[in-house]
Amino acid sequence: MTTLPTTLPTTLPTTLHMPTNQDLDPDQLRAAFGVFPSGVVAVAAEVDGRATGLAASSFTSVSLDPPLVSFSIANTSRTWPDLRRAGHLGVTVLADHHGEVCRQLAGPVEHRFDDVPTTVSPDGAVTLDEGLARFDCTIHREVEAGDHTIVLLALHAVEQTDTSLPLVFHRSGFGRMCEV
Ligand SMILES: Cc1cc2nc3c(=O)[nH]c(=O)nc-3n(C[C@H](O)[C@H](O)[C@H](O)COP(=O)(O)O)c2cc1C
Repeated sequence: MTTLPTTLPTTLPTTLHMPTNQDLDPDQLRAAFGVFPSGVVAVAAEVDGRATGLAASSFTSVSLDPPLVSFSIANTSRTWPDLRRAGHLGVTVLADHHGEVCRQLAGPVEHRFDDVPTTVSPDGAVTLDEGLARFDCTIHREVEAGDHTIVLLALHAVEQTDTSLPLVFHRSGFGRMCEV
């Protein structure tokens, strides 16, 4: 004999409010994507003798064995064709005090690294000295994905010493985490 639950489920099916086959407007999509909070990384390397890079909130950890991370780069990026030529890429997780640095890393190319303390590895990976974690990477694979390319990065070195809080990107603005 089946035992029936003595209480009703608190969540009952409601009328469908999300019809399929919507005309997915890019602005509406951007706003919806922005609801999902993320950290921000700097992806950077020395190319032709100068620090080259950008800010990216699409960073994701992917695999422990082999160690892989990813980020997505817009196909319109003018920096990526140069950056992808670098032998090694540095990825730095930005800290909560990096709001201005992050804007700078997404701004005019010639000023992206002005007054930003960085270290260059022997292989040319550029990392930010005040980052929360630093990764030394090479490109494992690039996967076409609509108007972006998913870049899979193989990790060769990791450093994580700073225990302060990360910069959080949410709804097109910066914030920080707090205990709940
Ligand atoms: C918080 C933040 C996150 C960003 N995340 C990404 C990203 O994940 N992928 C991307 O292609 N551009 C991202 N950008 C934009 C780049 O940093 C950069 O501005 C853009 O690539 C244009 O510069 P470029 O033509 O030199 O590449 C982000 C910008 C900001 C401010």
